[in-house]
Amino acid sequence: MKNKDLNLEHYTIFIDPSLQRLDDLITKKKYTSIFVLVDENTKKHCLPKLPVKAFQLIEISSGESFKNLQTCGEIWDFLLKNGADRKSLFINLGGGVIGDMGGFAASCFKRGMDFINIPTTLLSQVDASIGGKLAIDFKFAKNLIGLFKDPTAVFISTGFFDTLPANQFKNGWAEIFKHALIYNPNLWEEIKSLENLKIDDIERIVIRNLEIKKAVVEIDPFEKNLRKILNFGHTIGHAIESLSVENDKEPLLHGEAIIIGMICESFLSSKLLNMPQSELLDICTTLKKHFTEYDLSKISLDEVWDIMMYDKKNEDGKILCVLLEKIGKPIWDIPLQKADVESAFKYYIDLYEK
Ligand SMILES: NC(=O)c1ccc[n+]([C@@H]2O[C@H](COP(=O)([O-])OP(=O)(O)OC[C@H]3O[C@@H](n4cnc5c(N)ncnc54)[C@H](O)[C@@H]3O)[C@@H](O)[C@H]2O)c1
Ligand SMILES: [Zn+2]
Repeated sequence: MKNKDLNLEHYTIFIDPSLQRLDDLITKKKYTSIFVLVDENTKKHCLPKLPVKAFQLIEISSGESFKNLQTCGEIWDFLLKNGADRKSLFINLGGGVIGDMGGFAASCFKRGMDFINIPTTLLSQVDASIGGKLAIDFKFAKNLIGLFKDPTAVFISTGFFDTLPANQFKNGWAEIFKHALIYNPNLWEEIKSLENLKIDDIERIVIRNLEIKKAVVEIDPFEKNLRKILNFGHTIGHAIESLSVENDKEPLLHGEAIIIGMICESFLSSKLLNMPQSELLDICTTLKKHFTEYDLSKISLDEVWDIMMYDKKNEDGKILCVLLEKIGKPIWDIPLQKADVESAFKYYIDLYEK
C-alpha cells in the first residue's frame, strides 16, 4: 500500500491506522522511560489501542477548563516523583487540550523532553497536532502562556473517531472549513455541498488538511506573516470561547466558537475588504446549515472587546484580524474597531433569525 506519510522539516506525520510504527520509533530512540497523558475519555476509548508496552500513565480531567497552570503543575509533580528525565518520552494521547498542554508541560520540564502526538479527535488531527504551537490558558485569555516546539512525531489513526461523540466530530469540521476558506477554494467547493459531515473517506480529508497546514507552517513557523491566516475566525471566536468557558454551564467547543467567529469575520470581510456578497452568503448558509445558533445577545460587547485586547496577534494596542478579500485570498493584520464587532454580532443574530 502506498505510504501516505507527510514529512516536515523536523518530524514525520505517520498515517498509521494500526499505530504499528510507533513501537519501532520508540525502540530506535532508546528512551529511559515513557509517560502517556490521557483524560478520562481517552483513557477509556483510546488507551486500549495504544501498542506501547511499558509506560506510566498520567490522567487529567477532560475539558478546556483544565488546560491551565494548575493541571500543568500536577503533570510536572508526577514527572518529578516518577523519575522523568530529559531522555524520557512524553506521549499525548487525546484531543487538542491534551496535545497543547502535554506538549507544553513536556517542553518545559527540565528544559524539555521529546513528545509524540497521537491526536484522537478530528480537530486535533486536522489542526492542533501539528505546527508546534503549545500553550495553556491563563486568566481570561486562551493559549496565553506557551511556546513553539515541534513534536518528535505525529501518528494519525482515524479509527479513533469510532468512539468520538458526534458533537466533537462536528467540532473538528470548523477547522476544515477554515482551511478551505483561507487556502483551498476547490476543497471549499467540495465540502460546502455536503449535507452530512459524517463522510466515509474522512482519512482523505484529514490528509488534505494536514497538507494545507504543513504548507503554511513550513513557510512561516513562528507566525511572523503567512501563518497568521490560520487565525481566520479566531479573533472574535476565541473571545467568545473564553467567555463561554467562563460563564456557560455547557460551554461552546473550540470549533463551535470558531464557526461564530468565521461568520462574524466573513461579514467584516464584506464590510471592510469588499468580499463579494455572493461569497458571504455562500459561507454563512453553509456554516449555518451545520451549526446551531448561539445566543450572542447575552454576551457583553465590552467584555468581548476587553478579551480581544489580549489577543497575541495584536500590535501597538491595535486589534488585528484576518479577513478574506475573497474565498482563498486571506489578508492579515486588518485593524478592527469596536463598532465593527458590534455590527458583526448584529449580522450573526439576524442571520439565524431568517
Ligand atoms: N496548537 C494548535 O495549533 C491548536 C489548533 C487548534 C486547536 N487547538 C486547541 O485544541 C483544543 C481543542 O481540541 P479538541 O477539540 O480536540 O478538544 P479536547 O481535547 O477537549 O477533546 C474533546 C473531547 O473529546 C474527548 N475525546 C478525545 N478523543 C476521543 C475519542 N477518540 N473517543 C471519545 N472521546 C474522545 C476528550 O476527552 C474531550 O472530552 C483547544 O484547547 C484549542 O485551543 C490548538
Ligand atoms: Zn482553532
